[in-house]
Amino acid sequence: MVSVTPSILVTSVLNPNMRVFDVMMHTEYGTSYNSYVMQGCEKVALIEAAHADFVDAYFEHLDAALDGRTPDYLVLDHTEPDHTGAVAALLERYPDLTVVISRPGALFLKSIVNRDDLDCLIVSDGDTLDLGGRTLQFISAPLLHWPDTMFTYCPEERAVFTCDFLGAHYCEPGIFDTKITYPAAYESAAKHYFDSIMRPFLPSVRDGLGKLRALDLDYACVSHGPILTRGCELDRQIERYGAWSAEAVRDRLCIPVFYCSAYGNTTALAERVAVGIRAALPEAEVGLYDLVDHDLAEMRALMNASDAFALGTPTINRDALPVVWELLAGIDSINFTKRPVAVFGSYGWSGEGVPRVAEHLASLKATVFEQRLRVKFVPTLEDLASADAFGRAFAATI
Ligand code: FEO
Repeated sequence: MVSVTPSILVTSVLNPNMRVFDVMMHTEYGTSYNSYVMQGCEKVALIEAAHADFVDAYFEHLDAALDGRTPDYLVLDHTEPDHTGAVAALLERYPDLTVVISRPGALFLKSIVNRDDLDCLIVSDGDTLDLGGRTLQFISAPLLHWPDTMFTYCPEERAVFTCDFLGAHYCEPGIFDTKITYPAAYESAAKHYFDSIMRPFLPSVRDGLGKLRALDLDYACVSHGPILTRGCELDRQIERYGAWSAEAVRDRLCIPVFYCSAYGNTTALAERVAVGIRAALPEAEVGLYDLVDHDLAEMRALMNASDAFALGTPTINRDALPVVWELLAGIDSINFTKRPVAVFGSYGWSGEGVPRVAEHLASLKATVFEQRLRVKFVPTLEDLASADAFGRAFAATI
């Protein structure tokens, strides 16, 4: 039986073959769904559960860890189904199990196990649970990355259970950070995980880090990837999260102009829109980015970090181009409200691309520039002058 300490047993299941998480996140190195058994002298708590597809493996590990005992509590620090898919089966197996959870978590869980009558022990920030010689302290950590998230800390073991926070979709059989075979791959997976899962919630990340830094810690029992230990990746992950979540200090407005173009017509408009923005805001950083030639993840990061942006799209098949929608699928909607955006483009027949993108951005609560610059086929000199004026007028609203 693998254990973190004699009181903390590991019941994780490994999924080394996973290549897509949550439908949209590519995962090169698989993942693990980590869960734990915390043994006190009087009570036994399970901490986190598992994905529904791995119930059998989870129960096998659980049986080995429990060695015939019946657990008293199930602590759920976060209810996303990769950790709670097995809970319905767990409750059937142990009908007297008390679920310990945050208030929003209890609401979510009822709809995950489809039991309105589920009676949970709701815990709030600062509450404790005595297992007999081992104490669980609950620390609210909302939006890391769901509203229900909390950390669970055991001071006697100097261990914190952080659920997704500090984790990585990275699977190696060694389970601990001291046994990572490919540290560069792990670091890359941890960064991808942070960017995909935590980056939309940077103020909450900073809050969560502050709470962890205040604890005496030897272990962070994360829910994905290697368990973190003091002197190894625990220190490094906290340091990395500090750097990745630091507030950017920028002394210039950042107003990228994104576009794609089939025959160069939207390119010509984009160039003149950028000229107009630069003329109105000479101190601003106004880069031009053909979406076909640039890395999508970098473009999404730039879009989310921008103060405003302009977006040019042709129309094909009565719509904007797929690469434009791929960019917009990466919008950090939590922090996007009132972002100034402008939409423009050349078209040949009907020209729905520009209005469809503008409507979508408005639905995400952006402040969409009221003008829509649309040009049929090849821009004339007058059209290019209009694009310049469009850029200037948009810049005046920022
Ligand atoms: Fe690993 Fe947000 O669940």
